Amino acid sequence: NRLYEDLESSVFNSNLIFIGGYPRSGTTLMRAILDVHNAIYCGPETRVLPMLLGFVQQKFMRNPHELIELINANIKLENLNKAIALFIYSIMYNHGEKVVRLCAKDPDLLYYMNYLHELFPKAKFVYMVRDGRATAYSMLKQTSEKMTFVKMKQYLGTWNSFSTSAVRQCQSVGPNICLMVRYETLVLRPKETILSVMAFLNESFSDEQLHHEKFVGQRIRLSDTEWSNDQIRKPIYLESLVEWIKSPVQDYDKEMVESSVPMLKALNYSYDIDELDYYREYKTKNGT
Ligand code: A3P
Repeated sequence: NRLYEDLESSVFNSNLIFIGGYPRSGTTLMRAILDVHNAIYCGPETRVLPMLLGFVQQKFMRNPHELIELINANIKLENLNKAIALFIYSIMYNHGEKVVRLCAKDPDLLYYMNYLHELFPKAKFVYMVRDGRATAYSMLKQTSEKMTFVKMKQYLGTWNSFSTSAVRQCQSVGPNICLMVRYETLVLRPKETILSVMAFLNESFSDEQLHHEKFVGQRIRLSDTEWSNDQIRKPIYLESLVEWIKSPVQDYDKEMVESSVPMLKALNYSYDIDELDYYREYKTKNGT
């Protein structure tokens, strides 16, 4: 019993790192930069963690009837949570390197931030935020869909609801637990941004983290099927910042975006392209 209780307590008190964000927000780049650090291991997406968390949330947390059935069977919510925490830890522990600090990156993990915080109160969350228009544009590119505004709007809708939930949860767990990192800032000012991430994680910064591309295939393991593999092999570049601006989708409708994607404004992304901070910074950097 003692052994099992010690195991439980070290699992629940572990200082895990979870990285997430709406897909195409630079989550792979962030995990690659952390993987360069010799005390941290994130590895490829686990896939199974958001699946499990989605199942638990749907099956039990949003379904009082099932929960009552469990309690009647003498499985208390507290014990269910412990079992889920052990499952998550075990996946992360056996995922790759048995390093000091375990990390998992799956874009959808942040839907479950409050719950993960309850399971692992010492875990930290890195929330990658990116302009929703750029993520929607990137999704269209990746899925080879028609580059039309009608399609883009669908992704903007899911970006808006993801961001609403992630921002709310990030604020509720507080600034010591959740850090919002903008993709735009990461690529425009990598050193400053990585330094702030490492300070948030209470880890040292190493110059090697500015050259993640040198470690791909070594400390940075790739899964054959992830979309960002080719991009992650390159040093940090700026081109993706402005692709959606330079070659806009057909019939881009600024007024429609303004009325239907309020999270852009909430996250300080101007609807007016010329007022966008990162576009200005990009132009200054590029001399254009
Ligand atoms: P684009 O598709 O707009 O190019 P995620 O890993 O969360 O899915 O995010 C993918 C985005 O991260 C891609 O956006 C990609 O360009 C960007 N990214 C990946 N590696 C990068 C690098 N080395 N430098 C700059 N951006 C990178």
